[in-house]
Amino acid sequence: MAIRAFIFDLDGVLTDTAEHHYRAWKQLADEEGIPFTRQDNEALRGVSRQESLNLLLKGRRISPQQAQEWMDRKNRYYLERIRQITPQELLPGAREILGELRAAGLKIAIASASRNAAQVVNRLELRPQIDVLVDGNSVERTKPAPDLFLLAARLLGEAPENCVVVEDAAAGIAAARAAGMRCIGLGPVEQVGAADLVLPGLEGVRLRELLERLS
Ligand code: BG6
Ligand code: MG
Repeated sequence: MAIRAFIFDLDGVLTDTAEHHYRAWKQLADEEGIPFTRQDNEALRGVSRQESLNLLLKGRRISPQQAQEWMDRKNRYYLERIRQITPQELLPGAREILGELRAAGLKIAIASASRNAAQVVNRLELRPQIDVLVDGNSVERTKPAPDLFLLAARLLGEAPENCVVVEDAAAGIAAARAAGMRCIGLGPVEQVGAADLVLPGLEGVRLRELLERLS
């Protein structure tokens, strides 16, 4: 199966917004007296805002109104943090691999569970580098459901088996597999070990090597 398109996750793959998500949840958790550690946060990577809140609550019960207020508050903290983002915040290697993909004529999408993805992509000035952006507003079910990646493939005009997903979250790897796509996991094996290829990050990554190792 030929590889014709790459679909990138955004948060934690192209830029370190994963840290901003963590700090925004941490601020909320501290205000509400809920213990929440960096390790707890790993399970929130890649999952929707609502599901993140459920994980943060660890079985504590709050009313639907309170849940909405907490999610809105977390999102305000997050938006305050991402206001400062500039193209400097692209993670090492991200710009280079996007450039290589473009030069090789492969298609590129960003598929993020975040409803704030468009803002981040614009601040990173990534629009001209990609063909398609789908985000948490584009589908009902986000990762680990395959919907976001399948939509990205459809908009790119490529079959799932011709797409490669790049992800930093277990939920994202599960979504890629459910979509029938090959995937590259960035980060520790405990997190992304289910991927076809595991790398520490995009720094120093060359397209030719990726294509060889995936085929
Ligand atoms: C994902 C992040 O990209 O988007 C998650 O990895 C986040 O941490 C999810 O919860 C939803 O983001 P948002 O911006 O819609 O709250
Ligand atoms: Mg991510």
